[in-house]
Amino acid sequence: MHVHSLGPLQTEQLARELAGLLQPGDVITLEAPLGGGKTTFVRGLATGLGVPEEEVSSPTFVIWQIYEGRMRLHHLDAYRLRAADELEEIGFSETLSGQDVVILEWPGVAEPLLPSDRLHVRIEYGDGEEERSLDLEGRGNWKQRLEQWQR
Ligand SMILES: Nc1ncnc2c1ncn2[C@@H]1O[C@H](COP(=O)(O)OP(=O)(O)O)[C@@H](O)[C@H]1O
Ligand SMILES: [Mg+2]
Repeated sequence: MHVHSLGPLQTEQLARELAGLLQPGDVITLEAPLGGGKTTFVRGLATGLGVPEEEVSSPTFVIWQIYEGRMRLHHLDAYRLRAADELEEIGFSETLSGQDVVILEWPGVAEPLLPSDRLHVRIEYGDGEEERSLDLEGRGNWKQRLEQWQR
């Protein structure tokens, strides 16, 4: 599913609407260049789950943040990690197999740990400064969930 965003508020709103689909245990991966809008997207998702807006920030230096909403949301950034082991060591696998929702930025290194059911979001820059193109790819059971949502 492709969405054209014309500004940060649109990206945030899309993610906020997507939050309505979330169920316990869901995993979302998020890929975008720096400044692409990953944190903006997560802010929408989190507020959609009832998390106060100001709690959401970029986790680049914190690696792992937890927000309490309608469900608990784990926001991770694997940018600085070089191997899946490093995520294993901090207990990521246990969290993945639990009932909380997980959103992971820069998922590349974590690939071997990730479940086959997941929503993969890719954001790319568009022509204008505030234009982004978002590609939402449902994998496993997310494929159907996304299709239903789209209708
Ligand atoms: N369409 C858009 N969607 C998301 N962010 C946008 C858009 N247009 C401009 N921006 C701006 O780009 C920046 C994205 O920053 P951020 O969400 O922190 O990105 P990242 O976490 O990927 O580095 C913000 O300053 C945001 O206001
Ligand atoms: Mg960020």
